[in-house]
Amino acid sequence: MPSLSPKLAFSVFCAGALLATAARAEGNVKTGREISVTHCTRCHVVGDANPNGGINSTPSFQLLARRDDWRERFQTFFERRPHPVFVRVPGVPPWTKLPSVVEPFNITLQEIEDVMAFVETLVPK
Ligand code: HEC
Repeated sequence: MPSLSPKLAFSVFCAGALLATAARAEGNVKTGREISVTHCTRCHVVGDANPNGGINSTPSFQLLARRDDWRERFQTFFERRPHPVFVRVPGVPPWTKLPSVVEPFNITLQEIEDVMAFVETLVPK
């Protein structure tokens, strides 16, 4: 059996590396920032987007990003109070059929990955 030429072996390695990156479906920082500004600034201070905005009872994204478990909290935010009332994730059954008292919005799991990529930029180095 002929052995792979070093050049071909390198190409095969690169293709594999590319596929592995694509399969991880990493979030996009810019998209994540846009989604956060659109949907989250109503209540949260989101980085430098609205330093004097948000509502008092709500932790800023910067504060949440300081927690060791921020990833888990953002990944599951739609099932943490108060969000189940107004956040809809396609494929995830809503908690209640009653109408929301605040304006609801939809967010996909990929969009949550994008938000997390953005929040990662707020983690103190
Ligand atoms: C209608 C107001 C409102 C909107 C809109 C909102 N949040 Fe929140 N969020 C809250 C409040 C209030 C809390 C604090 C809950 C508590 O401390 O019990 C919170 C807490 C959180 C937490 C911490 C949860 C925990 O259990 O530690 C995360 C993460 C979060 N929000 C993410 C988001 C993201 C991402 C968006 C936008 C896609 C968003 N929120 C939109 C009101 C809101």
